[in-house]
Amino acid sequence: MSPPPAPPADLQGRHIVLGLSGGIACYKAAELARELVKAGATVQVVMTDAAQQFITPVTMQALTNRPVFTSQWDARPANAMAHIELSREADAIVVAPASADFIAQLVQGRAAELLPLLCLARPIERCPLLVAPAMNREMWAHPATQRNVAQLRADGARVLGPGSGDQACGEVGDGRMLEAEEIRDELIAFFQPKLLAGRRVLITAGPTFEAIDPVRGITNLSSGKMGFALARACAEAGATVTLVAGPVHLATPRGVQRVNVTSARQMHDAVVPAAKAHDVFIATAAVADWRPASMNEHKIKKDGKKQAPTFELTENPDILATVARLPVAERPWCVGFAAESQDLARHAREKLERKGVPLVVGNLGPATFGRDDNQLLLVDARGERELPAADKLTLARALVAEIAERMKSR
Ligand code: C5P
Repeated sequence: MSPPPAPPADLQGRHIVLGLSGGIACYKAAELARELVKAGATVQVVMTDAAQQFITPVTMQALTNRPVFTSQWDARPANAMAHIELSREADAIVVAPASADFIAQLVQGRAAELLPLLCLARPIERCPLLVAPAMNREMWAHPATQRNVAQLRADGARVLGPGSGDQACGEVGDGRMLEAEEIRDELIAFFQPKLLAGRRVLITAGPTFEAIDPVRGITNLSSGKMGFALARACAEAGATVTLVAGPVHLATPRGVQRVNVTSARQMHDAVVPAAKAHDVFIATAAVADWRPASMNEHKIKKDGKKQAPTFELTENPDILATVARLPVAERPWCVGFAAESQDLARHAREKLERKGVPLVVGNLGPATFGRDDNQLLLVDARGERELPAADKLTLARALVAEIAERMKSR
């Protein structure tokens, strides 16, 4: 078996200025620098005096392989204008952590130190500013901070988080800086083209589980990874995403609303009433075709006579076909998936016609279940189009572009 393709270096070629202001969350900024470098970015760290009370420039230099800037009087830039040079090269400035005081400085246009100075001097149309607040919950909730954050947004900055939970001060509440991976993913999403801006997308993912008795059931090998990758790609593309997930242990992509279900009937009941509030429906779930006609209330025991139990099966509702048959005004644009073991194009086209959907995406089930990579065949009225082997997120983004292109006329 060939090794799976490497996951995408989503920040390849991006130059990021990573600013640190003072706060205990500076320790997470070290991890963030590493994550950004791993994702392919070059990272230029700029630290305030307060940040240097929490973490040293040496640590940040070692992680980014670049000397850190801490002063507007730094003589290294040939024109002695670090505040101008640094932002001219940057694809984005990310300030993490952003303290309450630092946010107040940004809002007032203060420039007493290099970091606020370079934020003020950045070409505002070309160099976006993303800010990850980190502070005690009382400081976050204070009307002054809330007023400043609202103004910061109005001035065009993007505010990431904050998260909620345990705080270094021992209190619990809003104000934690997002985790390094969350900030990295927010930045990756920020750079994705907004092909589905304003669209609402409903996605099913994973297997279903059809109970035989309280401890056993019928299920399948679907991991849910393709559907979750699609949910992430749709959210990155600016869509509002609802993800109806069967029993899988996957993290919910950021910004996605998740509804957990177990059986096909539960998935049906979650999807059908929600369908009309969505513009697109993508059915990636491997829904069990049949379920036991009745569920035993208690665990079926061996009877000692070596007599195996027999089950009567009954057919599950076809969720995709049901949505595809809704009245036109209530029907989202439907995309079906076909997991086959052979003869992909023929089976996918047959599914396209049988279910009455405008697009079916074929993949070879046994070759992709549980894996991080896949290969897709798009079948529709135009013909067939192959999306060659890649990791599932790359394929999901390519599929999003295909869907967005077909949605243009709607
Ligand atoms: O041929 P099959 O019915 O398995 O077609 C697969 C496609 O239909 C997938 O998009 C799957 O999510 C969807 N499906 C469904 N409800 C079912 C069976 C399949 O939505 N009961």
